[in-house]
Amino acid sequence: MEIKVIVGDIAEIEADAIMVNHFEGMESLEGDIADIDRALDGAISRLIAQGEIKGKPNEITIIHSLGKLPSARVAIVGLGKQKELSQDKVRGAVAGACRLLRQKGVGGIATVAQGAGMAGISAEGAAQAAAEGALLGLYSFRKHITKEAEHGDIKQLTIVAADKTESPRLERGCNKGKVLAEATNLARDMVNEPANYMTPGDMAGMAAELAESYGLKLKVLERKQMQELGMGALLGVAEGSRQPPKFIILRYRGGDSAEADMVLAGKGVTFDSGGISIKPSRKMGEMKGDMAGGAAVMAAMSAIAQIKPRVNVTALIPATENLPSGSALKPGDIVTAINGKTIEIISTDAEGRLILADALGYAEKLGAKVIIDVATLTGACQVALGDVVTGAFGNNQGLVDKVIAAGDEAGELIWQMPMYDQYKEQNKSDVADIKNVGGRYAGAITAAQFLAEFVGDTPWVHLDIAGTSMSEKEKTYLVKGATGVPVRTLVNLVLALAK
Ligand code: BES
Ligand code: MN
Ligand code: ZN
Repeated sequence: MEIKVIVGDIAEIEADAIMVNHFEGMESLEGDIADIDRALDGAISRLIAQGEIKGKPNEITIIHSLGKLPSARVAIVGLGKQKELSQDKVRGAVAGACRLLRQKGVGGIATVAQGAGMAGISAEGAAQAAAEGALLGLYSFRKHITKEAEHGDIKQLTIVAADKTESPRLERGCNKGKVLAEATNLARDMVNEPANYMTPGDMAGMAAELAESYGLKLKVLERKQMQELGMGALLGVAEGSRQPPKFIILRYRGGDSAEADMVLAGKGVTFDSGGISIKPSRKMGEMKGDMAGGAAVMAAMSAIAQIKPRVNVTALIPATENLPSGSALKPGDIVTAINGKTIEIISTDAEGRLILADALGYAEKLGAKVIIDVATLTGACQVALGDVVTGAFGNNQGLVDKVIAAGDEAGELIWQMPMYDQYKEQNKSDVADIKNVGGRYAGAITAAQFLAEFVGDTPWVHLDIAGTSMSEKEKTYLVKGATGVPVRTLVNLVLALAK
């Protein structure tokens, strides 16, 4: 889809559909919608008076202009109460309207910059939300479906600026929204891909494509180099699989060469069967998405490379399958991670923390300024927070606050979980330095406490996206399947830390 900004009057534009908005409880029509209402001989105000148009969130009304306007259709989008408006509500409203119009066979849409100048939303912010809402809401994953879709594609979205002073601001927002949404959709593609099409080798191949397209530096460590570095935890998980593991390192250099890197680390388990501690077969297929953290980190790097902030960022993605076999890691085994700590394996299904132990240890060795890791780490986090909120765990309150703020800006909700020392007791082992499962209770927290053992004193935040990486159904700008969380949060955070 092409998205562009033009200066003009929405009522005079020729498109398959134009989009305007209405707020709940608004009595009189003003501005663009009033002009359009007049052209339609009062059709909109009549529907408002009759109660069909209420302006409620997610309400979309389509009126056919029957030659009274250059555009064939007018979509009136409900935005809820004006003072409760947010960028995220604009994203959701535009997504819903675009999806409905696509179903109707619409190919080109023009819209006003919905929400601009209201409830603290800037012109940039409104245009960004519109671009994100359209691109995220219209996403679909049809790569392996040979039959053509029933609907065509929306090929063009035009955001109409009222005047020449507004248009550069809309353009800036629109461009940023495009980069962020396209990166999110890239992560979604990787997560939706089945495990036989997204092996560790395929992830490394994708990293090579991103490096080539966006000028990132790439290094992929193979098994032999992992052995030399002492990545016994990652290698242990990889033992059960015939797919060779990959340790993917993508670097973006935007800051001084002397400046330490921000590290983004993402869990890249391309399929998690549980290993010898095998999972029940029900829904096991969903574990093709256990590389969502790695995908998010890679996709965020593609956006960062396009926006070009003045910082240095390194992405680390330990990638492997977790499968049972005659050579697989076993419960009771002890492995040694990159920082020399020994780990007793209680369950081979707690593999995410093992591969991240080596990635975090590697980041510490690099001398990272801050470390953010992203992982579909625990079912316990999904039980605690559902699919609405990502769990955050950290050793530095200032950094946690910044991550949460970056998430707010993206509409990706994040909630901080406690990291009291008392929880560490549960990870104590009788035979090694630490064990990889801390019992049944507080599973998301003990997993985070395990990770904390590998970051040293580096300021660090862990994001558990087990609940938020997939959506069971279409809602607002999410579609069924991968969500691409928290790509936009990561980019916002890097931009905020670059300031
Ligand atoms: N990948 C899973 C966690 C997961 C669960 C992600 C549901 C997405 C949805 C992880 O590797 C895992 O298996 N965790 C175990 C840990 C347990 C053995 C301590 C879990 O949560 O059951
Ligand atoms: Mn597992
Ligand atoms: Zn897993």
